[in-house]
Amino acid sequence: MHYTFQQYQESAEYIRAQIGDFRPRVAMILGSGLGFLGDEVENATAVSYRDIPHFKASTAPGHKGQLVFGTLEGQAVAVMQGRMHHYEGYSYEEVSYAVRVLRLLGCDTLVVTNAAGCVNTAWKAGDLMLITDQIKIFMESPLRGENLPEFGPRFPDASKLYTPALRETARSAAKDLGIDLKEGVYMYFPGPQYETPAEVRFARTAGADAVGMSTAPEVITAGHCGMQVLGFTLLSNMAAGILDQPLSEQEVLDAAAACKDKFSRLVLECLKRM
Ligand code: HPA
Repeated sequence: MHYTFQQYQESAEYIRAQIGDFRPRVAMILGSGLGFLGDEVENATAVSYRDIPHFKASTAPGHKGQLVFGTLEGQAVAVMQGRMHHYEGYSYEEVSYAVRVLRLLGCDTLVVTNAAGCVNTAWKAGDLMLITDQIKIFMESPLRGENLPEFGPRFPDASKLYTPALRETARSAAKDLGIDLKEGVYMYFPGPQYETPAEVRFARTAGADAVGMSTAPEVITAGHCGMQVLGFTLLSNMAAGILDQPLSEQEVLDAAAACKDKFSRLVLECLKRM
């Protein structure tokens, strides 16, 4: 099934009726560990995914499944508390549905965060990475199917998905905060199984610094509809096969909790400067 432009409009209209005159500028999709920032939004209006026409509910544990509108560091934001993943059974179009709705509501910028496995052996678990580019060559694109020209062209350019000016903002924010910020390429794997050591070697050969199961579809959709994008990865663990130990979700959650303070300070400082 493919969504029509009218369905996106119906979702946006429902939300507009809840938020009145408020016009969000920055959309935020926060992954493992940073979802709490949604609770810090001031003058907040929360809209449950369940109530929005055509929206899917997010099933991942620890995800609230709501959009929070309000201000954060002086910016008018729309925070997605809970994202959809392909491994939950959603199509890529469903995974990135909200991005287009937020675009219709006025957002011109998307901030994405995630946790991912570290492929670069010069780095360590707990490091933060500014995403400079991405690789998503497995499976189809969220843009597959009839193009909706109201959002963007059939063959969109993807040479600067992660906006250079926002990357510069992040670099200077990290420097001023004394936070060591790596920079690198995020490679998407559909999951839900973690990668095999051979897949991690393949990712490294392909030029990846991190491997993860989210973000790339939403960023393709955001680029298609002309949004600026800023992306951060928390390198929660060394990717499979680098250390002689199995990967676990608990390790990811523990790393996210340990970095929560550093990560949120960086993201909030960037918001302030955007
Ligand atoms: N691989 C894929 N996704 C992840 C990982 C990983 O090692 N860590 C956290 N999310």
